[in-house]
Amino acid sequence: MSDHFRKKVHYEDIIATFDDILIQPGYTNFEPNDVDISSKLGSYRFNLPIMTAAMDTVTEEIMAIKMALLGGLGVLHRNCSYERQLEMVRIVKRTRSFIIVDVATITPDDPITNAKFMMENYNISGLVVVNDENKVCGILTKRDMPYSENDIKNGKVKEYMTKNVISIEPGASREEALNKLFKHRIEKLPVIENGRLKGLITKKDLAPEFPLASMDEDGHLICALALSPKFPESLRAQNMLKEIDKYVDIFFIDVADFYKIADIEGTKKLMNLLESDFVLGNIGTYEAAEYIISQCDFAEDKFIGLKVGMGSGSICTTSIQTGVGAPTLFATAQVADAIKDYKSELSLIADGGFKNPGDIPKALTAGADLIMSGHFFAGCTESPGYIDTLQGQKVKVYRGMGSKEARTSGFISDRYIEGSKILAEGISAYIPYVGDLDGVILSLKEGLINGMVYAGARKIEAMKNVKIGVITPFGRQEVRTHDLMGKY
Ligand code: XMP
Repeated sequence: MSDHFRKKVHYEDIIATFDDILIQPGYTNFEPNDVDISSKLGSYRFNLPIMTAAMDTVTEEIMAIKMALLGGLGVLHRNCSYERQLEMVRIVKRTRSFIIVDVATITPDDPITNAKFMMENYNISGLVVVNDENKVCGILTKRDMPYSENDIKNGKVKEYMTKNVISIEPGASREEALNKLFKHRIEKLPVIENGRLKGLITKKDLAPEFPLASMDEDGHLICALALSPKFPESLRAQNMLKEIDKYVDIFFIDVADFYKIADIEGTKKLMNLLESDFVLGNIGTYEAAEYIISQCDFAEDKFIGLKVGMGSGSICTTSIQTGVGAPTLFATAQVADAIKDYKSELSLIADGGFKNPGDIPKALTAGADLIMSGHFFAGCTESPGYIDTLQGQKVKVYRGMGSKEARTSGFISDRYIEGSKILAEGISAYIPYVGDLDGVILSLKEGLINGMVYAGARKIEAMKNVKIGVITPFGRQEVRTHDLMGKY
């Protein structure tokens, strides 16, 4: 080896990927049912340590809601206007809560067409009817809506609403609400104080249908949104962000490479403007994490995690185009070391590059607390976009946020090197349709739990101490199916 190389490449700089390692089996004194896969990020605990990527072919409101209901987190993408982002975060936050505070209302003199529009476009099955003083006059549900086109066109809300509103007072318990809903065989219970609307309780939100759901203290789903690190100069944009902030719990700074002074400075200003927590990223090295944790003075209470991985996403071409990259396993191990050295309460999210369920436990052994993937989820029913057919197989479109197609929208160009217009850093492709998210999560969960059983780790934290080994090219061949004559 030349002197030049010897000085530059050290053992810790070997850029290993998921396929380069295997977890060594460990001693196990528990059963699969005893395995606890919950993991923490800041003050939140997730029963499923899995997130869906902030990409426009992966996570919009439907995916975010479903992921949170299943115990994980869907990070809403930012390749759209602030108005659309606001709409998405409101829908996610409104979905499941013991008491909905931000109730959809309508006035008695509104035309029925307005009610129909709201129900159809905001996924609401009933509206509380209030007057100018926010006093409740009635309730209008889908069941009250007229059938005939003529009635819909000419009717007023007051002609069809139910005037005798069964309600409950603020402070009522879950049981009291459930009893009242059951007694009157109704689905919605407005919360009323001195005649004024204070909230709404729905039967759907009270049912313990999703016991693992990721919820905030008020019983709302946890909501996360990707955010550019560029501080918006216009007051209007700042005000929009503040409005969005009301519904968001965690902002994920969303750039390909966060180890950049302009992005760090922009993020600090954003942290001053906004109240929610922040995950910063992506980064890929010990030095980047060390600098961000120890030199940048980020607001201690809001900085809750680092997201790592650069160039190893299934749709990424950054490393091919630029020669620079930090594949997720390498990035995770590097940043985990820095977190241990400087701020052990920070959480680490390993982002991208996951091909097989077994890559998830591998990321955890390298030091990740949670993982993020687009690839596993872009083909689900819940991802945005239509199901198409390609050579007889059902497919959906999955595109990198650095692809030509995604970047031409204009909202996401600052995710990569600013001013670079010609060089795409991602591709747009078809991915097999894999059905509902529940099924995908089930198999990922099983892979993870069984991996932890083999490794002898009962908790995610314990995975960090599990032994791994580097596998040789021959070993890699051997651990895959081999020497067979096609599929039977
Ligand atoms: P997977 O492997 O799940 O990776 O497809 C998803 C992650 O990849 C990042 N991402 C990109 N990286 N060019 C890149 O270099 C892109 O166009 C691109 N789009 C997404 C992102 O971190 C995501 O979570």
